[in-house]
Amino acid sequence: MTAIGRARAHTNIALIKYWGKRDKALFLPMNSSLSLTLDAFYTDTQVIFDEALTEDQFVLNGQNQTDSEVIKISQFLDLFRRAFKETRRAQVLSYNFVPTAAGLASSASAFAALAMAVNQALGLGLDRETLSTYARRGSGSSTRSLFGGFVEWDMGTTSENSVAQPVDDADWDVGMIVIAINTSKKTVSSRIGMDHTVSTSPFYEAWKESAKHDLVAIKEAILARDFQTVGQITEHNGMKMHATTLSANPPFTYFEPETLRVQNLVRQIREVTGLSAYMTMDAGPNVKVLCRASEMERLVAELAKDFPNDKIITSLPGQAAYCLTEEEWRESERRFYDD
Ligand code: DP6
Repeated sequence: MTAIGRARAHTNIALIKYWGKRDKALFLPMNSSLSLTLDAFYTDTQVIFDEALTEDQFVLNGQNQTDSEVIKISQFLDLFRRAFKETRRAQVLSYNFVPTAAGLASSASAFAALAMAVNQALGLGLDRETLSTYARRGSGSSTRSLFGGFVEWDMGTTSENSVAQPVDDADWDVGMIVIAINTSKKTVSSRIGMDHTVSTSPFYEAWKESAKHDLVAIKEAILARDFQTVGQITEHNGMKMHATTLSANPPFTYFEPETLRVQNLVRQIREVTGLSAYMTMDAGPNVKVLCRASEMERLVAELAKDFPNDKIITSLPGQAAYCLTEEEWRESERRFYDD
């Protein structure tokens, strides 16, 4: 007997960052966070639970994955197997539609797509919030990819209520530009970086406190569609997160010389042209610019004067994760190999 599920989830970029865990095993965060789901980047996943399989398999972008990657997927599937008394092993096939040039981590979309696909395969009927608690156990940022638009991940008090919730569907004048500086694998993963910061930065408590206030303020601004305030809070919050890495012991930074150059460029464009552009960086050197969708083209033209065009990728807000039909899945496979 086999059971099949297929789903698509988009990636998200945090405007209020998740940075630190209070429980590493359960992926409970130190602070609540908020993100924008992006339309341009997503993961499509098919899962087949099959009696005939003796072990889990994981094929990503057409390539069999190493043991350590399979173990991560296996442990994730175990969460469902334990909760729903499922004994079958599974084959997981995934395609990441994240331009390599974007240098974006795909774990956010990956676990959200897998949670959704498992829900369908096993006919569990779990709602998005509950699925977000499963996705969370694969990778924290994945919690937020179950929903579209602006999404909050409420830190909660237990594993059951540390969930994602939609804040606003972002169907107004909002967009994001990714400026890819270096797309090679990061030297300090977000997981290691946040743990090290929590345990050694004397500024960590201040970060937590500050993120709490930023979250309240940004939600208000989002609901009021006050773009400037959303942008200012985003930029300040990201910089505060990065300030904790500089104050960790030993200190480290995700910024590269080129990151600083692009930051200056964005500030300069903002001042000279009056275009709205606010930057944020994650656990890597690439710069993401929150902007108005209606100004995106002009912004790209400005950026392209100083930065190669093929390293500038634009996106509009993305929708919530959803199940794919067999036909959509086949189409997606075809597209992956054609591109
Ligand atoms: C800087 O979700 O990748 O992007 O939970 O350990 O898998 P794990 O970490 P991950 O961390 C993301 C950190 C961030 C900020 C954010 O997305 O909120």
